[in-house]
Amino acid sequence: MALLDGFGRKIDYLRLSVTDRCNFRCVYCMPVHGVEFVPRDELLTFDELERIARVLIELGIEKIRITGGEPTVRKDLLELVRRIGSLPLQSFSMTTNGYAFSETVKEFFDAGLHRVNISLDTLKPQRFKDMARFDGFHRVYRSIWRSMEVGLDPVKINMVVMKGINDDEIFDFVELARKNPLHVRFIEYMPSSHSYGNRFQDDRILTTDRLKALVAERYSLIPSDPKITAGPAKMHTIEGFKGAIGFIDPYADHFCSTCNRIRLTSLGKLKWCLFSNEGLDLKGFLRSGNSDEHLRNWILEKILTDKPAHHPLGISDMISVNTVFSQVGG
Ligand code: 5AD
Ligand code: SF4
Repeated sequence: MALLDGFGRKIDYLRLSVTDRCNFRCVYCMPVHGVEFVPRDELLTFDELERIARVLIELGIEKIRITGGEPTVRKDLLELVRRIGSLPLQSFSMTTNGYAFSETVKEFFDAGLHRVNISLDTLKPQRFKDMARFDGFHRVYRSIWRSMEVGLDPVKINMVVMKGINDDEIFDFVELARKNPLHVRFIEYMPSSHSYGNRFQDDRILTTDRLKALVAERYSLIPSDPKITAGPAKMHTIEGFKGAIGFIDPYADHFCSTCNRIRLTSLGKLKWCLFSNEGLDLKGFLRSGNSDEHLRNWILEKILTDKPAHHPLGISDMISVNTVFSQVGG
Protein backbone atom coordinates (compact mmCIF):
# COMPACT_ATOMS: atom_id res chain seq x y z
CA MET A 1 0.00 0.00 0.00
CA ALA A 2 1.36 3.41 -0.83
CA LEU A 3 0.71 6.67 0.93
CA LEU A 4 -0.12 9.29 -1.62
CA ASP A 5 -0.67 12.93 -0.92
CA GLY A 6 -3.25 15.13 -2.56
CA PHE A 7 -0.98 15.52 -5.60
CA GLY A 8 -0.50 11.83 -6.09
CA ARG A 9 3.05 11.91 -4.77
CA LYS A 10 4.34 8.91 -2.92
CA ILE A 11 5.28 9.54 0.69
CA ASP A 12 8.02 7.12 1.67
CA TYR A 13 10.16 9.00 4.17
CA LEU A 14 9.46 9.50 7.85
CA ARG A 15 11.31 11.75 10.24
CA LEU A 16 10.86 10.52 13.75
CA SER A 17 11.60 13.04 16.46
CA VAL A 18 12.38 11.27 19.72
CA THR A 19 12.92 14.32 21.92
CA ASP A 20 12.75 18.09 21.62
CA ARG A 21 15.64 18.54 24.04
CA CYS A 22 19.20 19.33 23.16
CA ASN A 23 22.39 19.77 25.12
CA PHE A 24 23.51 22.49 22.68
CA ARG A 25 21.97 25.90 22.16
CA CYS A 26 23.10 26.77 18.65
CA VAL A 27 22.79 30.47 17.95
CA TYR A 28 20.60 29.89 14.93
CA CYS A 29 18.37 27.37 16.59
CA MET A 30 17.54 28.07 20.21
CA PRO A 31 17.78 30.86 22.73
CA VAL A 32 20.04 30.22 25.75
CA HIS A 33 17.26 30.45 28.28
CA GLY A 34 13.55 30.08 28.34
CA VAL A 35 13.14 27.12 26.02
CA GLU A 36 10.24 25.09 27.22
CA PHE A 37 10.67 21.41 26.69
CA VAL A 38 7.97 18.81 26.58
CA PRO A 39 7.60 17.02 29.91
CA ARG A 40 9.19 13.59 29.55
CA ASP A 41 6.00 11.66 30.28
CA GLU A 42 4.32 13.33 27.32
CA LEU A 43 6.87 11.95 24.90
CA LEU A 44 5.88 8.98 22.84
CA THR A 45 7.11 5.79 24.49
CA PHE A 46 9.32 3.37 22.60
CA ASP A 47 6.35 1.01 22.29
CA GLU A 48 4.30 3.77 20.71
CA LEU A 49 7.11 4.87 18.43
CA GLU A 50 7.61 1.31 17.27
CA ARG A 51 3.90 0.78 16.71
CA ILE A 52 3.54 3.95 14.68
CA ALA A 53 6.64 3.10 12.67
CA ARG A 54 5.24 -0.34 11.86
CA VAL A 55 1.91 1.05 10.75
CA LEU A 56 3.54 3.70 8.60
CA ILE A 57 5.81 1.08 7.05
CA GLU A 58 2.69 -0.88 6.14
CA LEU A 59 1.48 2.31 4.50
CA GLY A 60 4.57 2.58 2.34
CA ILE A 61 7.22 4.32 4.44
CA GLU A 62 10.58 2.90 3.37
CA LYS A 63 12.99 5.30 5.00
CA ILE A 64 13.15 6.47 8.58
CA ARG A 65 15.38 9.14 10.08
CA ILE A 66 15.60 9.60 13.82
CA THR A 67 15.83 13.27 14.78
CA GLY A 68 15.36 15.51 17.78
CA GLY A 69 16.14 18.05 19.28
CA GLU A 70 19.15 15.85 19.81
CA PRO A 71 18.29 12.14 19.68
CA THR A 72 21.15 11.03 21.91
CA VAL A 73 19.75 12.91 24.89
CA ARG A 74 16.79 10.52 24.85
CA LYS A 75 17.38 7.87 27.51
CA ASP A 76 18.15 4.39 26.15
CA LEU A 77 18.17 5.54 22.55
CA LEU A 78 20.10 2.41 21.57
CA GLU A 79 17.09 0.29 22.55
CA LEU A 80 14.90 2.28 20.16
CA VAL A 81 17.50 2.09 17.40
CA ARG A 82 17.50 -1.70 17.84
CA ARG A 83 13.72 -1.82 17.55
CA ILE A 84 13.46 0.43 14.51
CA GLY A 85 16.54 -1.18 13.00
CA SER A 86 14.81 -4.55 12.97
CA LEU A 87 11.91 -3.25 10.85
CA PRO A 88 11.99 -3.72 7.07
CA LEU A 89 13.49 -0.44 5.85
CA GLN A 90 15.39 0.58 2.77
CA SER A 91 17.18 3.29 4.70
CA PHE A 92 17.57 4.04 8.39
CA SER A 93 19.40 7.17 9.45
CA MET A 94 19.88 9.67 12.24
CA THR A 95 20.53 13.38 12.52
CA THR A 96 22.71 14.24 15.50
CA ASN A 97 24.86 17.02 16.86
CA GLY A 98 27.55 14.37 17.32
CA TYR A 99 28.40 15.18 20.91
CA ALA A 100 27.53 11.78 22.33
CA PHE A 101 27.33 9.84 19.10
CA SER A 102 30.78 8.28 18.90
CA GLU A 103 30.25 6.35 22.13
CA THR A 104 27.49 4.20 20.69
CA VAL A 105 28.07 4.53 16.96
CA LYS A 106 29.28 0.93 16.64
CA GLU A 107 26.21 -0.40 18.44
CA PHE A 108 23.95 1.81 16.30
CA PHE A 109 25.57 0.44 13.18
CA ASP A 110 25.26 -3.15 14.39
CA ALA A 111 21.59 -2.45 15.16
CA GLY A 112 20.94 -1.50 11.55
CA LEU A 113 21.61 2.23 11.30
CA HIS A 114 22.85 2.94 7.77
CA ARG A 115 23.64 6.62 7.61
CA VAL A 116 24.11 9.73 9.69
CA ASN A 117 23.92 13.51 9.39
CA ILE A 118 26.14 15.33 11.84
CA SER A 119 25.81 19.07 12.36
CA LEU A 120 29.14 20.87 12.33
CA ASP A 121 29.39 24.60 11.73
CA THR A 122 33.04 25.30 12.42
CA LEU A 123 36.42 23.60 12.71
CA LYS A 124 37.58 26.03 15.38
CA PRO A 125 37.02 24.82 18.94
CA GLN A 126 36.54 28.27 20.44
CA ARG A 127 34.14 29.31 17.70
CA PHE A 128 32.31 26.06 18.17
CA LYS A 129 31.82 26.97 21.81
CA ASP A 130 30.42 30.35 20.79
CA MET A 131 28.10 28.99 18.12
CA ALA A 132 26.78 25.90 19.90
CA ARG A 133 27.12 27.56 23.29
CA PHE A 134 28.65 24.29 24.39
CA ASP A 135 32.24 23.11 24.45
CA GLY A 136 32.00 20.14 22.17
CA PHE A 137 34.15 20.44 19.07
CA HIS A 138 36.53 17.56 19.72
CA ARG A 139 33.80 15.09 20.55
CA VAL A 140 31.75 16.04 17.50
CA TYR A 141 34.76 15.81 15.25
CA ARG A 142 35.56 12.40 16.65
CA SER A 143 32.02 11.24 15.92
CA ILE A 144 32.46 12.13 12.27
CA TRP A 145 35.58 9.98 11.90
CA ARG A 146 34.20 7.14 13.98
CA SER A 147 31.05 7.10 11.85
CA MET A 148 33.12 6.59 8.71
CA GLU A 149 35.28 3.98 10.45
CA VAL A 150 32.39 1.80 11.56
CA GLY A 151 30.87 1.93 8.08
CA LEU A 152 27.96 4.37 8.16
CA ASP A 153 27.49 5.42 4.57
CA PRO A 154 27.13 8.15 3.69
CA VAL A 155 28.27 10.33 6.56
CA LYS A 156 26.91 13.81 5.95
CA ILE A 157 28.07 17.01 7.57
CA ASN A 158 25.60 19.86 7.81
CA MET A 159 27.07 23.33 8.11
CA VAL A 160 24.74 26.26 8.67
CA VAL A 161 26.57 29.16 7.03
CA MET A 162 26.33 32.55 8.71
CA LYS A 163 27.93 35.65 7.27
CA GLY A 164 30.53 37.19 9.55
CA ILE A 165 30.37 34.19 11.84
CA ASN A 166 31.66 31.11 10.03
CA ASP A 167 31.69 31.99 6.33
CA ASP A 168 35.50 32.26 6.41
CA GLU A 169 35.59 28.47 6.80
CA ILE A 170 33.66 27.50 3.70
CA PHE A 171 36.73 26.32 1.81
CA ASP A 172 38.02 24.36 4.79
CA PHE A 173 34.71 22.52 4.76
CA VAL A 174 34.91 21.89 1.02
CA GLU A 175 38.38 20.44 1.58
CA LEU A 176 37.01 17.93 4.09
CA ALA A 177 35.37 16.16 1.17
CA ARG A 178 38.58 15.86 -0.84
CA LYS A 179 40.15 12.87 0.85
CA ASN A 180 37.11 11.55 2.70
CA PRO A 181 33.83 10.14 1.43
CA LEU A 182 31.91 12.84 3.31
CA HIS A 183 28.91 14.71 1.99
CA VAL A 184 29.50 18.29 3.09
CA ARG A 185 26.23 20.19 2.88
CA PHE A 186 25.97 23.93 3.24
CA ILE A 187 22.67 25.06 4.66
CA GLU A 188 21.49 28.60 4.20
CA TYR A 189 20.80 30.14 7.56
CA MET A 190 17.11 30.71 8.13
CA PRO A 191 16.30 33.41 10.63
CA SER A 192 13.52 32.47 12.97
CA SER A 193 11.92 34.23 15.88
CA HIS A 194 14.66 32.67 18.02
CA SER A 195 17.52 33.93 16.01
CA TYR A 196 16.51 37.57 15.74
CA GLY A 197 15.24 39.16 12.57
CA ASN A 198 13.68 37.90 9.44
CA ARG A 199 14.99 37.17 6.00
CA PHE A 200 15.07 40.80 4.97
CA GLN A 201 16.71 42.25 8.03
CA ASP A 202 19.21 39.71 9.16
CA ASP A 203 22.66 40.61 7.85
CA ARG A 204 24.05 37.21 8.73
CA ILE A 205 22.41 35.58 5.75
CA LEU A 206 24.69 34.40 2.99
CA THR A 207 22.40 33.26 0.23
CA THR A 208 22.95 29.88 -1.36
CA ASP A 209 23.43 31.54 -4.76
CA ARG A 210 26.22 33.73 -3.43
CA LEU A 211 27.80 30.87 -1.52
CA LYS A 212 27.72 28.60 -4.51
CA ALA A 213 29.29 31.31 -6.67
CA LEU A 214 32.10 31.68 -4.12
CA VAL A 215 32.79 27.95 -4.15
CA ALA A 216 32.57 27.82 -7.94
CA GLU A 217 35.29 30.48 -8.22
CA ARG A 218 37.79 28.01 -6.78
CA TYR A 219 36.38 24.61 -7.66
CA SER A 220 34.77 23.22 -10.72
CA LEU A 221 31.48 21.86 -9.45
CA ILE A 222 29.86 19.02 -11.32
CA PRO A 223 26.15 18.77 -10.49
CA SER A 224 25.04 15.28 -9.54
CA ASP A 225 22.03 13.82 -11.24
CA PRO A 226 19.06 15.25 -9.32
CA LYS A 227 17.32 11.91 -9.69
CA ILE A 228 19.90 10.23 -7.48
CA THR A 229 20.11 13.04 -4.95
CA ALA A 230 17.53 12.36 -2.34
CA GLY A 231 16.41 15.22 -0.16
CA PRO A 232 16.60 18.96 -0.55
CA ALA A 233 20.36 19.25 -1.11
CA LYS A 234 21.70 19.97 -4.57
CA MET A 235 24.72 17.72 -4.63
CA HIS A 236 27.90 18.26 -6.63
CA THR A 237 31.08 16.36 -7.17
CA ILE A 238 34.51 17.85 -7.73
CA GLU A 239 37.16 16.06 -9.73
CA GLY A 240 39.56 14.13 -7.52
CA PHE A 241 37.26 14.35 -4.52
CA LYS A 242 36.15 11.27 -2.64
CA GLY A 243 33.23 13.09 -1.09
CA ALA A 244 30.60 15.47 -2.38
CA ILE A 245 29.39 19.00 -1.78
CA GLY A 246 25.78 20.00 -1.39
CA PHE A 247 23.76 23.17 -1.07
CA ILE A 248 20.48 23.46 0.75
CA ASP A 249 18.48 26.54 -0.05
CA PRO A 250 15.19 26.67 1.77
CA TYR A 251 14.01 29.77 -0.08
CA ALA A 252 14.76 29.48 -3.77
CA ASP A 253 13.44 26.01 -4.19
CA HIS A 254 9.90 25.36 -3.29
CA PHE A 255 10.90 21.82 -2.77
CA CYS A 256 7.59 20.89 -1.19
CA SER A 257 6.48 19.85 -4.62
CA THR A 258 8.98 17.04 -4.56
CA CYS A 259 8.89 16.48 -0.82
CA ASN A 260 8.38 12.85 0.06
CA ARG A 261 8.49 13.31 3.81
CA ILE A 262 6.26 13.27 6.79
CA ARG A 263 7.29 13.96 10.36
CA LEU A 264 6.31 12.63 13.70
CA THR A 265 6.98 15.09 16.51
CA SER A 266 8.20 13.91 19.90
CA LEU A 267 4.71 14.70 21.19
CA GLY A 268 3.16 12.28 18.75
CA LYS A 269 1.76 14.64 16.12
CA LEU A 270 2.11 13.52 12.55
CA LYS A 271 2.92 16.50 10.31
CA TRP A 272 3.14 16.58 6.59
CA CYS A 273 5.00 19.86 6.45
CA LEU A 274 7.75 21.41 8.54
CA PHE A 275 6.00 24.73 8.39
CA SER A 276 2.60 23.51 9.30
CA ASN A 277 1.37 24.04 12.82
CA GLU A 278 -1.21 21.39 12.50
CA GLY A 279 -0.74 17.69 12.78
CA LEU A 280 -2.59 14.52 13.49
CA ASP A 281 -2.55 13.61 17.15
CA LEU A 282 -1.44 10.00 16.87
CA LYS A 283 -0.51 9.82 20.53
CA GLY A 284 -4.01 10.78 21.64
CA PHE A 285 -5.46 8.33 19.16
CA LEU A 286 -3.31 5.46 20.42
CA ARG A 287 -3.80 6.29 24.07
CA SER A 288 -7.55 6.12 23.67
CA GLY A 289 -7.18 2.48 22.88
CA ASN A 290 -7.42 2.32 19.11
CA SER A 291 -6.03 -0.65 17.22
CA ASP A 292 -3.28 -0.54 14.63
CA GLU A 293 -5.88 -1.02 11.95
CA HIS A 294 -7.85 1.97 13.15
CA LEU A 295 -4.68 3.98 13.19
CA ARG A 296 -3.86 2.98 9.65
CA ASN A 297 -7.29 3.88 8.34
CA TRP A 298 -7.36 7.14 10.23
CA ILE A 299 -4.02 8.25 8.79
CA LEU A 300 -5.05 7.24 5.30
CA GLU A 301 -8.28 9.13 5.62
CA LYS A 302 -7.14 12.31 7.24
CA ILE A 303 -3.72 13.41 6.55
CA LEU A 304 -2.54 13.23 3.05
CA THR A 305 -5.24 15.12 1.32
CA ASP A 306 -3.72 18.48 2.01
CA LYS A 307 0.01 18.30 1.94
CA PRO A 308 0.75 21.73 0.49
CA ALA A 309 2.27 22.38 -2.89
CA HIS A 310 4.51 25.17 -1.61
CA HIS A 311 5.81 26.14 1.76
CA PRO A 312 5.31 29.66 3.04
CA LEU A 313 8.98 30.70 3.04
CA GLY A 314 10.13 33.48 0.84
CA ILE A 315 7.13 35.40 1.97
CA SER A 316 8.13 38.14 4.37
CA ASP A 317 5.98 36.84 7.15
CA MET A 318 7.78 33.56 7.55
CA ILE A 319 8.56 34.29 11.16
CA SER A 320 4.89 34.31 11.87
CA VAL A 321 5.14 30.61 11.22
CA ASN A 322 5.66 29.23 14.64
CA THR A 323 8.66 27.10 13.88
CA VAL A 324 11.09 25.96 16.51
CA PHE A 325 13.53 23.86 14.56
CA SER A 326 14.61 21.77 17.49
CA GLN A 327 11.02 20.80 18.12
CA VAL A 328 10.13 19.68 14.67
CA GLY A 329 13.44 18.01 14.10
CA GLY A 330 15.14 20.37 11.65
N1 5AD B 1 18.77 27.82 9.77
C1 5AD B 1 19.17 26.75 9.04
N2 5AD B 1 19.20 25.51 9.51
C2 5AD B 1 18.83 25.29 10.78
N3 5AD B 1 18.76 24.18 11.52
C3 5AD B 1 18.33 24.51 12.74
N4 5AD B 1 18.10 25.84 12.81
C4 5AD B 1 18.40 26.35 11.60
C5 5AD B 1 18.38 27.66 11.04
N5 5AD B 1 17.98 28.71 11.76
C6 5AD B 1 19.09 22.84 11.02
C7 5AD B 1 20.57 22.65 10.76
C8 5AD B 1 21.07 21.89 11.91
C9 5AD B 1 19.88 21.03 12.16
C10 5AD B 1 19.84 20.41 13.51
O1 5AD B 1 18.75 21.87 11.98
O2 5AD B 1 20.70 21.79 9.68
O3 5AD B 1 22.24 21.21 11.57
FE1 SF4 C 1 20.66 21.29 19.17
FE2 SF4 C 1 20.70 20.89 16.55
FE3 SF4 C 1 19.39 22.98 17.57
FE4 SF4 C 1 22.02 22.95 17.65
S1 SF4 C 1 20.77 22.99 15.80
S2 SF4 C 1 20.66 23.51 19.35
S3 SF4 C 1 22.48 20.81 17.96
S4 SF4 C 1 18.89 20.82 17.88
